[in-house]
Amino acid sequence: MKTFYIETFGCQMNAHDSEKVVGTLLNQGYTQVATPEEAELVFYNTCSIRDKAEQKVFSRLQQFKKENGKGKTFAVLGCVAQQEGERIFEKAPHVSLVCGSASYTKLPQLLVQLETGNRRVTGLSLDTEDTFETPLTRRDNPHRAYITIIEGCDKSCAYCVVPFTRGPERSRTSASVMQEAAEIARAGYTEIQLLGQNVNSYRDPSPAAWDFATLLDRVGRVPGIRRVRFTTSHPRDFVREIVDAIDANPALCNHVHLPVQSGSSRVLAGMQRLYTREQYLSRIEWMKAARRPIAISTDIIVGFPGETEADFEQTLALLDGVGYDSVFSFKYSRRPNTPALELGDQILEEEKGRRLTILQERQRQIQIRQNAAYVGRLEECLVEGFNRATGQWIGRTSQNKTLNFLRAGGESDLEGRYVEVRVTRAGPNSLAGEYVN
Ligand code: SAH
Ligand code: SF4
Ligand code: F3S
Repeated sequence: MKTFYIETFGCQMNAHDSEKVVGTLLNQGYTQVATPEEAELVFYNTCSIRDKAEQKVFSRLQQFKKENGKGKTFAVLGCVAQQEGERIFEKAPHVSLVCGSASYTKLPQLLVQLETGNRRVTGLSLDTEDTFETPLTRRDNPHRAYITIIEGCDKSCAYCVVPFTRGPERSRTSASVMQEAAEIARAGYTEIQLLGQNVNSYRDPSPAAWDFATLLDRVGRVPGIRRVRFTTSHPRDFVREIVDAIDANPALCNHVHLPVQSGSSRVLAGMQRLYTREQYLSRIEWMKAARRPIAISTDIIVGFPGETEADFEQTLALLDGVGYDSVFSFKYSRRPNTPALELGDQILEEEKGRRLTILQERQRQIQIRQNAAYVGRLEECLVEGFNRATGQWIGRTSQNKTLNFLRAGGESDLEGRYVEVRVTRAGPNSLAGEYVN
């Protein structure tokens, strides 16, 4: 019986890919262990979105260099694998398998090659038509299930490695998504999160030809499914029908993650984002005009080459205007193969750091204000767990806010249940409350 360990970096697509890889390995007769020390096969499912993320895998591998002699096999999966390819064997000679996400369907064959003594096995082809789906997927979370509906990216944002690391866009048929959703519901999951680099660019390749809004609505009507989330949406492909679907179907969570990257149309053009500030804000207006209160979150990059103080001020003004519920913000990181690598006028690290700090502090104040408005309200939560240190249950609202709450009268198991909670306090990153039913 061979043992394996897997550590996953990066986005939810990677997390879900690892669930599929684990399922595939278990089916091949491997046993999963909790530490790399115990494992014969060590997998790192990697992320390359920023330089820091890429460095993580090499520092992990460095740690284990000496272990190589002890019969461990190291495998690098994911976006760094696809980006660096065979160069990984030079950088880390104890690695013997390098495989990108578009080649995971071939993993069983690649593992056989390893077993027969091949020391440098690769799966790096990007020209796959299919997406990697397996009925064997071993899901980590007992309540929320991820479903990939579209892989890859056909955009070409000037800063981004994803089109190179994940290949061109491929959508699954609506029938196969619906079948997986129904199976998930039968298995007892109540929440589904639809995944894609640009989830709303989904185009059903079957004759049914569902668009994303239709698929979203139908998944929300699968018996047993109480919540549907989706991430990440690209503003260019964000249509009004998505907002209409959320308004009409209470199972669709009222939260949209819509990355803006910058509040300056000039910077957006340089980034090749395919929309202006005004076009982005028109999408925000649709959401603000909805009947349901839709929480909105975003991603921001500060310090893209050529970003002036005035551009940055426009991003701050956009944060004030939209009033986001949360923001993921990053310093621009130069990435291999990307068009922005060639741009002059790079911003100094120190200046990027200064802008990031200002932006994060500004957003913190916005979130304090936004969240304070929830005090006194009744919110439905899916209970995700219990925090022994604080004695509080951890819940999540439809709007994707963490709501920690106390329950008088002990600890009967609430995990996985939907409960009503009265919000009593609010902080910048979470709400607190009391159980009422
Ligand atoms: N497809 C999604 C983004 C996926 S990557 C979209 O287009 O919105 C997740 C986030 O990482 C991006 O939204 C961006 O904010 C950030 N990011 C991507 N490349 C980056 C880079 N080179 N430097 C800093 N942040 C980056
Ligand atoms: Fe990257 Fe742009 Fe594609 Fe998003 S849309 S994954 S930022 S290239
Ligand atoms: Fe990272 Fe690849 Fe996801 S670069 S963010 S793991 S698509």
